[in-house]
Amino acid sequence: MSEYLFEQAWERERRRLDALGTMYDPGSFAAIERLGIGPGWRCLEVGAGSGTIARWMKTKVGATGTVVATDLDPRFLEPLGAEDVDVRRHDIVQDPLEESAYDLVHARAVLQHIPQRDVALARMIRALRPGGWIVIEDITSPSPLCHPELPVWAKVLGAVDAGLRRNGADPDLGLRLHAMLSAAGLRDVDCSGRVAILHSGTPSIEFVLLSIEHIGDRMVAAGAVTADELDQALLALRNPGFTTAAATMIAAWGRAAS
Ligand SMILES: C[S@@+](CC[C@H](N)C(=O)[O-])C[C@H]1O[C@@H](n2cnc3c(N)ncnc32)[C@H](O)[C@@H]1O
Repeated sequence: MSEYLFEQAWERERRRLDALGTMYDPGSFAAIERLGIGPGWRCLEVGAGSGTIARWMKTKVGATGTVVATDLDPRFLEPLGAEDVDVRRHDIVQDPLEESAYDLVHARAVLQHIPQRDVALARMIRALRPGGWIVIEDITSPSPLCHPELPVWAKVLGAVDAGLRRNGADPDLGLRLHAMLSAAGLRDVDCSGRVAILHSGTPSIEFVLLSIEHIGDRMVAAGAVTADELDQALLALRNPGFTTAAATMIAAWGRAAS
């Protein structure tokens, strides 16, 4: 199994993934709609998390289309089985996957966490039918600027970054996606980015708070930040008026030759 830092057994992981969806789903839907998703399409959602995108895809492809939603740990996807989504426990690096089968393959905030991301991407591309589209979304690291000033914020962000990299993740993968899809020989490769502005009390800041809380003990144990610095940051993020910019989410897409 591939390593994954934000394991789903954590008691608030469902909330964290829902907050991620609230923050980024509208942009993901727009990126996919531009490619023409519609009735009859066969879609694969890799690392589907809480399943918000797979559920939306099913509404688009209708009864004549299919949606397969995979995850290393599909516990939050299981209810989608009743909505005619094919839910699979599946490691994109090594478990069997159909080839030349899908009109659309999508993965958001997944490849960045997978050390063998080149293998995973090649397998996703082989799963495309001739002319099928792949859409990959990943972030680049956020800026440490915030209002009001919070001197420990840069250190906390640096600790998150270091924790991800220690686990083989690439927190700047978004910047490399266009080049990766082009190098893979895909056609019509392009990309776009979006930045959520985080204010205290919104789902976006909830995602950041929960992410820090999920791996906080491990960041302290690694000596990247002290427990006191972490508490200062978490308190400041909850204070009314705190504003900062989230990571930039970059969507890159391309299509297999017809
Ligand atoms: C940050 S979450 C993103 C969830 C969802 N894609 C979203 O954007 O809302 C990353 C997801 O990728 C899954 N994942 C990590 N490594 C994986 C792998 N090798 N194969 C399949 N899923 C994986 C995790 O279990 C988790 O659900």
